[in-house]
Amino acid sequence: MISLSETKKDFSYNSVIGDQHKFFNVMLDDKEIGNLEYVEKDDIIEIVSIYVNQEYRNKGIGKEILKLLKNGNIKYFIMMVTRQSKRFWMKLGAEPIQKEDYVTTKFTKNFIKDYYCIQV
Ligand SMILES: CC(C)(COP(=O)(O)OP(=O)(O)OC[C@H]1O[C@@H](n2cnc3c(N)ncnc32)[C@H](O)[C@@H]1OP(=O)(O)O)[C@@H](O)C(=O)NCCC(=O)NCCS
Repeated sequence: MISLSETKKDFSYNSVIGDQHKFFNVMLDDKEIGNLEYVEKDDIIEIVSIYVNQEYRNKGIGKEILKLLKNGNIKYFIMMVTRQSKRFWMKLGAEPIQKEDYVTTKFTKNFIKDYYCIQV
């Protein structure tokens, strides 16, 4: 069973929505198989980093991790999409954030280029 175990890290990457980063180890039963960093603010979660160890990829674990983050309050997941991660995010229904989208207007004065969003 996949679960998240909160941990501490002494570094974090930039986030467009806030600075309260949370770090987790991704656990498969008792084994650590990846990690996750995100920022949650209001009804948005920004996935800053998601990582599943190579030998556990393409088994639905990445998808499962996002499911674990859903709660009644969350309306959007947002993330910066890179060339390597784009197909994964698109599979989960991510679409480029538009200039007039809630996420852009709420958190940043400037349009957030290369950011995608999944409406929960
Ligand atoms: C991106 C990552 C977290 C995906 O985790 P995963 O457990 O392999 O993903 P899943 O098995 O849940 O895949 C979900 C869907 O995306 C697809 N997918 C996953 N990675 C993909 C890739 N690199 N290219 C194309 N499709 C991909 C899967 O085939 C699956 O499709 P399906 O629903 O039709 O079966 C993992 O590949 C990883 O750790 N990569 C390195 C780090 C990284 O790039 N992180 C993202 C940016 S921070």
